[in-house]
Order: sequence, then C-alpha cells, then structure tokens
Amino acid sequence: MKTRITELFQVKHPIIQGGMHYVGFAEMAAAVSNAGGLGIITGLTQKTPVDLAAEIARCHDMTDKPFGVNLTFLPGFENPPYNEYIAAIIDGGVKIVETAGRSPEAYMPAMKAADIKVIHKCTSVRHGLKAESIGCDAISMDGFECAGHPGEDDVTNLVLLPIARDKIKIPMIASGGLGDARGLVAVLALGAEGMNMGTRFMATKEAPIHDNVKQQMVENDERATEMIFRTLNNTARVASNNVSREVVSIEAKGNATIDDVAHLVSGQRGKVVFENGDTEHGIWSAGMIQGLIHDVPSCKELVERIMDEANQIINRLNTLSS
Ligand SMILES: Cc1cc2nc3c(=O)[nH]c(=O)nc-3n(C[C@H](O)[C@H](O)[C@H](O)COP(=O)(O)O)c2cc1C
Repeated sequence: MKTRITELFQVKHPIIQGGMHYVGFAEMAAAVSNAGGLGIITGLTQKTPVDLAAEIARCHDMTDKPFGVNLTFLPGFENPPYNEYIAAIIDGGVKIVETAGRSPEAYMPAMKAADIKVIHKCTSVRHGLKAESIGCDAISMDGFECAGHPGEDDVTNLVLLPIARDKIKIPMIASGGLGDARGLVAVLALGAEGMNMGTRFMATKEAPIHDNVKQQMVENDERATEMIFRTLNNTARVASNNVSREVVSIEAKGNATIDDVAHLVSGQRGKVVFENGDTEHGIWSAGMIQGLIHDVPSCKELVERIMDEANQIINRLNTLSS
C-alpha cells in the first residue's frame, strides 16, 4: 500500500506507533519499524538528553529501518530542556519527530535546518491548520477515542477526520481507537493516509511492559477507560481502575485542584504498573480500542495481519460496485 505517508517516511506500511511514555523504548520502536511500520521512541521517557542519545543509539543497533522520536510539550511541573533533546535527536541521525501537546513552532527552525520531518499530533482541525501553517510535514489527528490526551472538544474520528481532510492539505495520519484492518480501511476512506496506534501496540510481545498489563487489556472492553482531569481542562483517557475512578470521583465533588489528586496521578506510580504488573497501582493510559484487543501477537504478526485483512476488505468493497 502506497500513500503520501509511506512515501514521506520511507516505510513499507502506513502504520505508525505513537509516542508512549514509559512504553516507547528502543525495543518497541525497533519492533514496529522492523515490521515495516514507523516506530517512535518517546523522548521524555528518557530522563536527560544524554539518555535519549543512548536510547537512539540502542534503537539504531536493533533496526536499520527509519524510526522517529516523540517530543511532548505538556504543561508539566518541570520544563525539560527541549533544545537539548532536539540536539540529541539531530546528532543521533533521527529524521522524524512526532510533536504533541503544544505547537512546536519555536522548535521548527532547528528541526527544519536538520532536515527533520515533523508530524504534529493534534486533536482539532484548528490545531492541524496551525501545524500546516508553521511548516509541519504531516499531522496525526487524535480523535476522542484515543488514549492519552484527546483535548476538550470531544469530536470522534468519524467526523473529525473528513473535516480535517477538507481543510488541511498536508498528509494526515488518523489516530485514536484504531487497532485492526477495519480501522485502517475506514480511516483511509475518511481521508487519512496512515494510521497511528498506541494502545494496540502495548498489547504486543515486544512492548516492554509487564505481561499482566497486556492481559488486562485483552480482558478489558471498550468501556474500560476513565477520563481524568476533565475539570482541570487537561483531559486524559486512561485505563479504568480504582485509582482513576477515585480521581474522577474527587473531581466530581467540584473545585478540585491538581493538589487534590497529585498523590494518585504521579507518573512514578504509573511507571510501577508497567514494571511490576500491578494494574491497580497507579494511572496508566489505554484507549477504547481495548474492546478490540483479543490477543498479544508480535508486532510483525500484528502489522502483517492488518495489511492482509485490509487488502481483503478493499477487495470485498470493490465487488460492491460491480
Ligand atoms: C501508555 C501510553 C502512553 C502515551 N504517552 C504519550 C506521550 O508521552 N506523548 C504523546 O504524544 N502521546 C502519548 N500517548 C498517545 C499515543 O501516542 C497515541 O496518540 C494514542 O495512544 C492513540 O490512541 P489509541 O491508544 O486509541 O491508539 C500515549 C498512549 C499510551 C497508550
């Protein structure tokens, strides 16, 4: 399958693995890239730019295929040294960056000077237009279904993608609620030229997280998510567990501040979930697509299955018009 996305990133299949905090290590990115998709290392999971440089080097050792780095600009408690992270990306010879959170405008000159292709992940048409206007090469449009931060507009991909396609000219990757061939063919029909998956790639053999988390996702259905931080205007879709439900109930009382929930939502507790496999220990991101996750294949098996089945669906659709 050839699209502007496969051409732009020189990948065999139009399948991308989005940045995932504490999941997007070199093992994850290399497995997706070796499967013919585009794997992405999560920049800020590496504590320092020096650590990121080492992670990039590890990934080069595991694959000779293209891979990218995610840089998330979120309103954090501490502001990471983004320019130094970008320097590590450039020095590491990585030519693809997925940005998210805020506009990457301030960092575009440095990335463009190094010939880096920038995918900006956004959650609304207006942010997609802005990304196009500042010279991003592609957008990844994250619909309401997605794990992580879906924004505050609550527009699902069925509406968001075709509107974005009508208004934005640069290639678009669909993201959020995607995990199988039906999703891929659907978003191609809606105007996307590739699909980004987060949650589905967590439930693969190579994902560097505890097996319990993968099994929990197989057991979970599409309703097993909570939307935390709604009242703080920083919504995050995460797996439903006692901790995320408690955050929601504290917020529901009204006037909650981050201090009221900080002890529940610490990144350290989420990290322990992935490392130790206690899925009730903290907050961990997962999306609605859990309802369509029934197994834990290798990345290669998953990507090949999606592409084979997508071709079958396209052939079947072709027969409808004859
Ligand atoms: C565990 C996890 C961690 C994530 N961390 C980040 C992150 O650090 N930065 C980011 O831009 N997106 C992050 N995301 C969002 C994904 O890159 C992707 O946009 C999202 O998962 C797509 O929705 P899906 O899970 O329905 O496929 C994360 C997603 C998951 C599941």
